[in-house]
Amino acid sequence: MNTRRDFLGMGAAAAGLGLFNIGCTGPSVRRPLPSERINVAVIGCGTMGRSNMDRIMQDKRVQVTCVCDPVADACSYGYDKDWSKKWRGGRIPFMERVNEFYKGKVCRATADWRDVVDDPTVDAVLIETTDHWHAIMAIAAMKAGKHVFCQKPLTMSIAEGRRMCEVAEETGVAFQTGSQQRSSSEFREAAELVANGYLGECKTCRIGLSYAHNDSGRNGFSRDARRLKEFPSYWKLTPEEWDMWQGPALHWEDNAVIPGIHGPMVWRWSDRTGNGALPDWGAHHIDILQWALGTELGGPVAIENVTSDIAETADEVFSWPCRFSFDVVYANGFRATVCDSDTAGFNGLKFYAPKGDLFVTRGKIEKPAHLASWKEADLLPTEKHLHKSRGSHESDFVDAIFDPSWKPACPCEVGHRSITVSHLANSCIKTGVKSLKWDAAKETSDNAAVNARADIRRYNGWKLG
Ligand SMILES: NC(=O)c1ccc[n+]([C@@H]2O[C@H](COP(=O)([O-])OP(=O)(O)OC[C@H]3O[C@@H](n4cnc5c(N)ncnc54)[C@H](O)[C@@H]3O)[C@@H](O)[C@H]2O)c1
Repeated sequence: MNTRRDFLGMGAAAAGLGLFNIGCTGPSVRRPLPSERINVAVIGCGTMGRSNMDRIMQDKRVQVTCVCDPVADACSYGYDKDWSKKWRGGRIPFMERVNEFYKGKVCRATADWRDVVDDPTVDAVLIETTDHWHAIMAIAAMKAGKHVFCQKPLTMSIAEGRRMCEVAEETGVAFQTGSQQRSSSEFREAAELVANGYLGECKTCRIGLSYAHNDSGRNGFSRDARRLKEFPSYWKLTPEEWDMWQGPALHWEDNAVIPGIHGPMVWRWSDRTGNGALPDWGAHHIDILQWALGTELGGPVAIENVTSDIAETADEVFSWPCRFSFDVVYANGFRATVCDSDTAGFNGLKFYAPKGDLFVTRGKIEKPAHLASWKEADLLPTEKHLHKSRGSHESDFVDAIFDPSWKPACPCEVGHRSITVSHLANSCIKTGVKSLKWDAAKETSDNAAVNARADIRRYNGWKLG
């Protein structure tokens, strides 16, 4: 394990040799030497935390030395509706998993994420919590000089995202958004085909966002508040766990405990802790759209034709819609119609073009006949080549930590710009706005009510930083 003592020793040597990356990093940002192993902490020991942790542990340049969750031990993680198939999460099972992996006591567990941020031996953090914590934790970690892998959707609002980008820029840390579709060959191939005009003049696309997490009941837990009582009684939080789980979220009246709200598929439906189905998958598929269109550092010029079922479904606990549809319009006239997957009839992106349509979803790409045998290797040197992760999305992050010239697949600004589109649509839904114009450079719309929602809403004394 790398200790801070090792670091200070090596740091002095490296500084003497001019090895630190002065100029593009803040003074407290550490770039490891190629021979080193970096110490990584996992904040949020739930479903996605386990997935990202397991994959980053495969990278020999990494050692997971700390795991953090206010929940000590719980056995209801995973997205399977069948409780018997769920597995143990929380900081103690995670710590045991890591120690077993490394065959030694290398990992500690803590309930308070600020303890991780204050730990000088931690080089990088994986932020794997509920959405409402991401920005506060990421900003604090970056300011403490940690490299950050943060799950999508990065934020709860556009203003939070802007602040995150500022801090990422100021500190110079490596930052990877957990939008792993950018590290998958089928999505890169689709984006490269569109970006290089292989479909002809492509001006429209339809995007279906999976709503597997809602009241279709196919997967995970229903959005029906009455079913919260079905949550197994063994998964109750202590008052301390509940307090740290809620954190900066607006508390329910009289600080009421909502049993089961902390279940993986449940908190997503509350606008206090999650962003709903639209940004949940919008963070992925709209990200790919912007990659293909070359608008990943900008954005659309308008959101139009917004509809949703929110009026029928919103209640005190579950406040995001299941059904929604909206158009995203870009300056060149490109129009993407985005809706829930049941309405679309698929989960993925379908590009419509004169030379034939292209469909892409996880693990599958369907190309028009004239491109059936096309391979990425056929791209000419003069054509647009999009970022290609050398390994997993997690290793792409590690590559960027070791080598500041390696830009990761989904840096903070890109992740922020991708989720901005979903935040705009969600804000329209909440305010009853059907259409708006968006100025991506100024990050402002022509609608005051939507602009007002793009604020930084944090509660209970927590500050964004
Ligand atoms: N990239 C992807 O494909 C993908 C897939 C699923 C989820 N996600 C994202 O991953 C994140 C986590 O989702 P999940 O489904 O794993 O949720 P989950 O509920 O299974 O896990 C979240 C964990 O965060 C913990 N947590 C809450 N407050 C905390 C705090 N203050 N400190 C430390 N831990 C805290 C919870 O106790 C829980 O263990 C979400 O932002 C979600 O959008 C991404």
